[in-house]
Formats: sequence, structure tokens, C-alpha cells
Amino acid sequence: MKIAVVGSINMDMTVLADRIPKKGETVAGSDLRYVPGGKGANQAVAASRLGADTAMYGCVGDDANGEMLLDNLRKQGVDGSKIKVVPGVPSGIAVITVADKDNVIVVVPGANGCVDTAYVDSIADDLRQADMVMLQHEIPQETIEYVIDLCDRADIPVVLNPAPARPVSQGTVNKVRWITPNETEAALIFGDRPIDEMLADYPDKLVITLGSDGTAASDGKAVLHIPARKSEVVDTTGAGDTFNAAFSVRCAAGDSLEDALRYANTAGGLATEKFGAQGGMPSDEDVRRAM
Ligand code: RIB
Repeated sequence: MKIAVVGSINMDMTVLADRIPKKGETVAGSDLRYVPGGKGANQAVAASRLGADTAMYGCVGDDANGEMLLDNLRKQGVDGSKIKVVPGVPSGIAVITVADKDNVIVVVPGANGCVDTAYVDSIADDLRQADMVMLQHEIPQETIEYVIDLCDRADIPVVLNPAPARPVSQGTVNKVRWITPNETEAALIFGDRPIDEMLADYPDKLVITLGSDGTAASDGKAVLHIPARKSEVVDTTGAGDTFNAAFSVRCAAGDSLEDALRYANTAGGLATEKFGAQGGMPSDEDVRRAM
């Protein structure tokens, strides 16, 4: 099974703090670590760890971070051979504070902003051979829509993880196979209304992630609420990315919606039990053992 991810590749500068600071406040931190991240790259690494033949498409800068990020993808078994190294532009960076079993993130896109439609043209043949294409919201909106149109024409299913939050047109919602917002993103895209109402309007299309409350989706017969794994949380960074990758891999493998959600919830939960966006991403064996 071939999974193609078009998206962001970041270096995460992660600070472990006593708690998430309030506006205007200074708090003490215990550690600063540089670890690979970016929603796109995280989803690619998670899919690869789960056993999928995975390729990552995106841009890094011609800097030390770019080299480290490419090296990391290689080590994780992700095909990054078509990632473009953009001269004179810094690689994407995320500044992350981890505390209180949660995080806050500021992303500086850098080279991720160079993932344009001309680049998509250069990888179009690869995308047409994928069993599933995964997208997030950390590359330009125009590019995301261009990929979705290309996949729609080629009948390639797309999972759109609309994070960070920004609006998505009805046309785009119609064209993707699955859209996987969290509650905030869902309210922005589908209106501020009860979740079950949104899910009933988009059966077999919309999956809403609810953090420690699990996930919800409709299979057309009923609204499914799947509980989260009870995890010993160390760092939630990358848990959503792991969920998305696991869900995509299992959907591409032909699982039912409920089975794919149960598997993905377990994978996402396991990812929170270690430090770093990619540090706790499980293998298929890990997930099945935990289930
Ligand atoms: O989803 C987590 C990711 O969001 C981090 O790795 C960070 O790079 C930001 O893109």
C-alpha cells in the first residue's frame, strides 16, 4: 500500500515548562530539545512506522535543519527523494511549549511556504500512483486545493487534516474522501453547532477528533463515539498526526470505519506516552498489542 503525504517538514524547538504561560507571563522551563516535526513529516513517519510504503513531498531549506530533517525521514524509512531543497530559505520551525499534559505551538513556515503548484506538477505522477494522499494545513492553501483537484481527477482518495484551523470550501469538502478536524477546526468549517449534527450531515466523510474524549464519526447508520486510549501522557505533540496516519493506513487497507477509528485512537494514544512529535509513534505490532 502506498501512502503519499504532501505537507510541512519542521524542526521542533520544544521547551519543557512547569506550566503553559499565560499572556505576558514568564515561567520556568526545564529543558530545550530540537526534534523533527511538522504535521506532514509527522504523518509520514507515523505511516511508515505502521508498515505503509510512504513517501513525503514538501520543501526544506538549504540549512543544517533541512539536512537533519531529510536524514531523519531516511532513517524512518520514508521516501523523501522528491523533497525540494530551496536555496536561501530557512527550513520550517515550530516553537513548542510542553506542560500540563498539553502543548502550545507557534510555527514559522519557512520553506514550507515554497510548496507551490509547480512543485505539485513535478510530483503529479507519483501522487496518481498512491493508494491514499494525506494533506494538512501547513502549506499554502492554493497548493492544497491543487493537490485535491489532481487527486479528484485521478480518483485517488485524500485525507485532509485541516490543522491548523482555517476555513475549507464546500467544494473541497466534497472532493476529499475524509476530513479530520478537531472540535475547533470543525466549528470553523461546519459552523458552531452540535457535533452529532455535523456528523449526521457528513456521514462516511467527517471524523472529529476530541482529544482525551476520543473521536466521533458517522457511518451513515449511527454516530460512533470511540473512546481514547487511557494513556500515561508525557507529550501530546504529534498525537493527532499519528491518529491521522493510522486512520489513513487502515482505511487504505480496507478496514471498516469503526475498526480504523479504534486502531487510530490506540496509535494516537500510544504516541502521547513518549517525548517529541515522533518519539512515541508506534509500530503496527505495538498498536495491535495495546488493543
Ligand atoms: O502536530 C504537531 C506538529 O505541529 C509539530 O511537530 C510542529 O512542527 C507543528 O507543525
